[in-house]
Amino acid sequence: MDAIDVILTKRDGGRLTPAQIDWVVDAYTRGEVADEQMAALAMAILLNGMDRAEVARWTEAMIRSGERMDWSGLDRPTTDKHSTGGVGDKITLPLAPLVAACGAAVPQLSGRGLGHTGGTLDKLESIPGWRASLSPEEMLGVLRETGAVICAAGSGLAPADRKLYALRDVTGTVESIPLIASSIMSKKIAEGTGALVLDVKVGSGAFMKTVDRARELAETMVAIGADHGVRTVALLTAMDRPLGRAVGNALEVAEAVQVLAGGGPPDVVELTLTLAREMLAAAGVDGKDPADALADGSAMDVWRRMISAQGGDPDAELPAARESHVVTAPATGVLAGLDAYAVGVAAWRLGAGRARKEDPVSAGAGVLLHRVPGERVTAGQPLLTLYTDEEARFPRALEALEEAISIVPDGAPDLLPLVIDRIA
Ligand code: URA
Repeated sequence: MDAIDVILTKRDGGRLTPAQIDWVVDAYTRGEVADEQMAALAMAILLNGMDRAEVARWTEAMIRSGERMDWSGLDRPTTDKHSTGGVGDKITLPLAPLVAACGAAVPQLSGRGLGHTGGTLDKLESIPGWRASLSPEEMLGVLRETGAVICAAGSGLAPADRKLYALRDVTGTVESIPLIASSIMSKKIAEGTGALVLDVKVGSGAFMKTVDRARELAETMVAIGADHGVRTVALLTAMDRPLGRAVGNALEVAEAVQVLAGGGPPDVVELTLTLAREMLAAAGVDGKDPADALADGSAMDVWRRMISAQGGDPDAELPAARESHVVTAPATGVLAGLDAYAVGVAAWRLGAGRARKEDPVSAGAGVLLHRVPGERVTAGQPLLTLYTDEEARFPRALEALEEAISIVPDGAPDLLPLVIDRIA
């Protein structure tokens, strides 16, 4: 087999054979196919696409590049959720313990944030003592003991994707639906979950800016799940404004704990319950209703045990930023829009996110929303509070927010529905 033949096949609009896909993914992982050859192939895939059979085989080859976890020894079915990422998306935090409290097991391998979107591990690491890296044995132990575990993926999981994703990042080839879908699904299938619910975000703060692109990605991922025997459902959900009222690591943990305590912003509660019901249905678990598990404290009990099992102190005070700055409403009327991307960039510039994989993040930095789209505001009233450890970060964060706020005299704002569509 020859890398140039594989590149030419795709460059000229042909279909890759299963043998070509198996070979090129394996040879690239082993270093036999060079980065520049894989970059050319990724660009040819971005321009000419892959059909369902090619995507399924590509995903399979990436799964086979590493280990596949096995939870068959557990006494309950496994189910997981993956979000394509957004601003203020802390849903995994209340969701995993909630679904465990309702009778399923949730083995969740999560990532760190990059750019304007936050990462679940960064959020949880703001809890004093909490540890993201677990051995497979420790992961199984936490899962057996509590029903849910959220931790970092080890380097043995889909190493082909790890290498290819880093290459795509620097060659303008991230935005290919077959490559995104196979990247996400190879990790989720290798993680060994029996059922999977995908939360595909749509809007300015999301990877997919339009409903049509998000639907195409969701359909491709649902088909990959089906082809690999993982019951997969996708929801398209709104990311034109931030989710909830908190954006930033410790701020989002505090909001997630409010949800587990039976409170929290209505959109976070609604999306948590909707995804929990989908995860339980996909796993075939007909146990407690998730709303009851929030109300009776059983989801909170699982959260506390899950955090403690990973070295965290669920009662510890969360870190707070040293400096704050209040942004007030520039006019009176209805808050018609609060752009998710702009708020994400502001939180990032305040120190909540990172520009490079190795950068540290600030636990306390971020943005709290005092008013959310649809609510009435009065000129001069506090709209947002920005938090950071370094005062010098405020001007650039404020710059990001310059065009983000829209206030109209009256009427209902033109926002995406929280749940836009369901694809199964
Ligand atoms: N997230 C992933 O894991 N892979 C992609 O390609 C894009 C987003």
